[in-house]
Amino acid sequence: MPRILQITDPHVLTAGSLAYGVVDTGAAQDRTVAGIRTVLPRIGPIDLVVVTGDLVDNGTAAQYARFIEIMAPLGLPLRAVPGNHDARDPMRNAFASTDWMPRTGAIRWRYDLGGACVIGLDTLVPRAPHGALGPETLDWLADELEQAGHVPLIVAMHHPPIPTGIVQMDCQGLQAPEALQAILERHPGPVRIIAGHVHRLVMGSLGTVPVITGPGTSHAVTLDLRPARSATFDMEPGGVLIHDAGPEGIRSQLLPLGDWSGPHPFAG
Ligand SMILES: [Fe+2]
Repeated sequence: MPRILQITDPHVLTAGSLAYGVVDTGAAQDRTVAGIRTVLPRIGPIDLVVVTGDLVDNGTAAQYARFIEIMAPLGLPLRAVPGNHDARDPMRNAFASTDWMPRTGAIRWRYDLGGACVIGLDTLVPRAPHGALGPETLDWLADELEQAGHVPLIVAMHHPPIPTGIVQMDCQGLQAPEALQAILERHPGPVRIIAGHVHRLVMGSLGTVPVITGPGTSHAVTLDLRPARSATFDMEPGGVLIHDAGPEGIRSQLLPLGDWSGPHPFAG
């Protein structure tokens, strides 16, 4: 059964820089890679790593170079979509030597693996925090799904197409998700949308399509469900998601990141 590892919102900066003066995102991404490598014998094989946006914090070439350098020890196939902290052309240039990065236009792709299909969508609106899908991308998606046929489908994107309950994030989610919903609800196989942006685990649905957002790897948007709060972040433990896509459905689970003891035998 194809297995996908989702990493989201690493916000990598150049060495010595801190996000918001507080978060050493590069060090956190180093720990993420090390943590995944430690458990890989238990959770692998992983067919594909998907990064659902905000690879870096400010979209500079130097930040993308550091992101790629940090990720290299994973040694796994990797694809990514941009988030609102990314910049399309520097991201395109950083991955120019790969076979999946489009040379122009939206950073979108389709990856077929062992009876499942993963589609990456570009929701980036330059210099804006919210996301959108243009008519051209929606047409492209509909065409790709027609070609993919009756297979389990994972759609990777940065901006969640559902409200999360965190008001200051929901005003910057994916705008006008109805068109996406209409296309995905026509897909004959199991479908799941995987997203990021809120740096938290949130599950919901877009019509009949399940949606899950992953925790970040370095910092989390504060869980505050009261209205009219200003946006803040917490240094909660991060994590990554594992998605298995088979003919009987799609299963998603959380791999937290951090230090703890175990595995311990239950017999004791
Ligand atoms: Fe982010």
